[in-house]
Amino acid sequence: MSATAPELPADLESGLRRLRLGAMRRMAAELILTAKTQRWTPEEFLRTLVEAEIGARDDSNARTRLKLACFPVRKTLADFDVAQSSVKTATFEYLSSLEWVRAKENVCLVGPAGTGKSHVLVGLGHAAVDAGYKVRYFTAAELVETLYRGYADNSVGRLIEQVVRADLVLVDEVGFAPLDHTGAQLFFRLVAAAYERRSLGVASHWPFEEWGRFLPEHTTAVSLLDRLLHHANVITTAGESYRMKEARQKGGRTAEPSV
Ligand SMILES: Nc1ncnc2c1ncn2[C@@H]1O[C@H](COP(=O)(O)OP(=O)(O)OP(=O)(O)O)[C@@H](O)[C@H]1O
Ligand SMILES: [Mg+2]
Repeated sequence: MSATAPELPADLESGLRRLRLGAMRRMAAELILTAKTQRWTPEEFLRTLVEAEIGARDDSNARTRLKLACFPVRKTLADFDVAQSSVKTATFEYLSSLEWVRAKENVCLVGPAGTGKSHVLVGLGHAAVDAGYKVRYFTAAELVETLYRGYADNSVGRLIEQVVRADLVLVDEVGFAPLDHTGAQLFFRLVAAAYERRSLGVASHWPFEEWGRFLPEHTTAVSLLDRLLHHANVITTAGESYRMKEARQKGGRTAEPSV
């Protein structure tokens, strides 16, 4: 018990502190006592300490990766009701396997409002973080705004390289707002930088043939889609908005526009 565990000798305490072995430092005194009373072998003792340190590091790295991912909400794949959605089970299972992240493929979710695009995107992001990948989520507006800042002070190239250090870059709500010429160029540069090096996950209301609506220059739109779709898993979501369905089940009035 910790109440009876003697304090760790000062030299060990400071040595473990210097080596930044925090979990070992916190546990050592108690484990020394347990090892003595339970007659652990030296290997058992060392293994327990090492495993504790590795476990603590893994947890801490996962927390850091989660923070750096900047997810707007917590949505998991486990919370996604595949049967209620238009996503095929086999497709959902392939996406959940994250094989496509290993293969540096992209995922593009296209479909109307409330059909689970963001849920799947963020859920895949969470799964990738749990699997040890670095992930970064943006809405398209946030992404372009971030890159615009780099454009203003000539650091956009560095900024894009920084973004594509993530194994998986998620860009949600593509096409909610039209992009100006520079915004479209910046988005193109990101897609080009990630091409065959990193995975992109993209969600949009607009089918690809309509991307000209928010990408002002035809050639940029074509070159962007060419790279985005070369190694892509395209998932079309359909049906009624899940939000509307839930609102109706709760007996609330739906906000369906009357036009
Ligand atoms: N199949 C599903 N199972 C569980 N929850 C779902 C499912 N589909 C959607 N939802 C929930 O419904 C809400 C709307 O889904 P989501 O935000 O993913 O829609 P969207 O397609 O991104 O819509 P928009 O285009 O308006 O951004 C969310 O709270 C999401 O968790
Ligand atoms: Mg969404």
